[in-house]
Amino acid sequence: CGIVGYIGKDEAQPILLSGLGKLEYRGYDSAGIAVCNGELITVKKSEGRLAVLENQLQNAPLHGSIGIGHTRWATHGRPSNENSHPHTDQSGKFAVVHNGIIENYLDIKEELSAKGVRFTSETDTEVIAHLLADLWDGSLVSTVQKAIKKMRGAYALGVVSEYEPDKLVAVRLASPLIIGVGENGNFIGSDIPALIEYTRDIYILEDGEMAVLTADGVTLMDAMTGKMISRELFHVDWDLVQAEKEGYDHFMLKEIHEQPRAFRNTMTGRIDEKGKKVIFEGLSLTSEQLMQIDKIFIVACGTAYHAGLVGKYVIEDLARIPVEVDVASEFRYRRPIVTEKTLVIVVSQSGETADTLAALREARRLGAKVLAITNVVGSSIARDADDVIATMAGPEIAVASTKAYTSQLVAFYLLGIYLAQVRETIEEGERISLIEALEKLPEQAEEVLSYSENIRTFADSIKDHKSLFYIGRGIDYAVALEGSLKLKEISYIHSEAYPAGELKHGTLALIEENIPVIALATQDELYEKMISNIKEVTARGAHVLGIALAGDTELHKSTDEVISVPSTVSLFTPALSVIPLQLLSYYTSLALGNDVDKPRNLAKSVTVE
Ligand code: G6P
Repeated sequence: CGIVGYIGKDEAQPILLSGLGKLEYRGYDSAGIAVCNGELITVKKSEGRLAVLENQLQNAPLHGSIGIGHTRWATHGRPSNENSHPHTDQSGKFAVVHNGIIENYLDIKEELSAKGVRFTSETDTEVIAHLLADLWDGSLVSTVQKAIKKMRGAYALGVVSEYEPDKLVAVRLASPLIIGVGENGNFIGSDIPALIEYTRDIYILEDGEMAVLTADGVTLMDAMTGKMISRELFHVDWDLVQAEKEGYDHFMLKEIHEQPRAFRNTMTGRIDEKGKKVIFEGLSLTSEQLMQIDKIFIVACGTAYHAGLVGKYVIEDLARIPVEVDVASEFRYRRPIVTEKTLVIVVSQSGETADTLAALREARRLGAKVLAITNVVGSSIARDADDVIATMAGPEIAVASTKAYTSQLVAFYLLGIYLAQVRETIEEGERISLIEALEKLPEQAEEVLSYSENIRTFADSIKDHKSLFYIGRGIDYAVALEGSLKLKEISYIHSEAYPAGELKHGTLALIEENIPVIALATQDELYEKMISNIKEVTARGAHVLGIALAGDTELHKSTDEVISVPSTVSLFTPALSVIPLQLLSYYTSLALGNDVDKPRNLAKSVTVE
């Protein structure tokens, strides 16, 4: 989602709409604005792209010089007029825009419902507006402070109120929010592109900070204590295109770097406070139904299929349910053995892939329950599935999928633990340590992202090759497949992924002097065997890049270069080990001068079968 806000001397509506236009890439299933004319707040919102709202406002513009706006990417609640932001309380005194998740919104909702508050939407955001009205103490700043003390989660908020129509209050906790300082007024926005047309002087809010904006100034403070904060203004010298990429050269690189955040967001609200259990709120599949499942199919295309291959290892290992993974365009045509006890998991970033959608419908027709793992909650696949686990990666623009893939992995990790918890296939202690390891992944991913430079050098050494190989055993093989696909997609270099033990049964004939081989060796139980396989290729002259776990002191002896990733539970290594492979394909494509974000012949979402 994206949020904007303005308070100043000019009309707010055009500023809000222009800001939302720049934020549309963050989500576009509905949009809305609230404008205050100094006394009254009026809200206009609508399902659909921003243009729908713009059309409505053309005939009946909202006048006033304070306002907030929102463009939505559905998380809680499907895309609809009611679920669009801004949300207001019953009296219409408060209007709120919100990006993020309020984890305990159901508790707050219950509490307020008991006091007679009536809710009109399914969103977590609406509770904030009612909570503000409930806690109103005569001061907007202190009321917002009281409200956020009751809220748990990750969010960026913009609040206006008829009680104090000379203020706009903004709070940030783990969702991005910046404050713009202009000559004719001040602004809030989810990111720089939303504001750049009006000001280049910004404050970047940190977690736990609040900004109070008036027409003439901005005050920053600690959101909990109210203690003032002084900060230098940051002057942005990017152009608009650079700003949309947050200063990165390509969306792909930006999205690779967004992975730690995407991991956190995908986990938010799905692990209980004590870190002991996985929770999937709103899942219609009951524990009884989950107990009865005797087989799982994971069905998807492209990168999502590769996430499914990892999912198989995870679910089989933790929940001990047999899993078959199928390419969607194959699944439908081979008379799969699906019964009422089968769970079909479809995985799709876009939620619109025609082959995956057709497979989903076929599975339902055969009587299976279908669970969708998707990044787009309002998509066709999400609508047609019985249940949805949303990956919270945010919109992915680059055709080569990166953060959507790793968020799908995180979704599988959560699901694997959840199934094991329901079916009692692992002990509580093991579950707790898995959850602990999972919660460390975002930080560990950040660490991996800091080694870009070595990978760049290796990319230069492979760019002129015609062909290369990725090898791995066990779950490393699933990652090898994804690494190889990334390279093919954007560098156009032929590559193949092989289970390392299988190489000697044919493909070894292709290994010749200097051929690049990327060897993943992150699995303890398979390590010795993997080293032997690496020796098979080095003996034939291959130039090998090894991917190892931190602390590995052996691999460099049998490879030319090693990139190590932090140590984690074996099943979770793909979320880290794929990152150097993503960067490798990015830098190779860059070195070749290809169009990284829009590779030839490919589309982000394929809606034909
Ligand atoms: C297209 C994209 C791939 C993607 C696949 C599945 O081919 O180019 O990157 O993995 O579709 O897309 P989905 O949206 O279903 O995950």
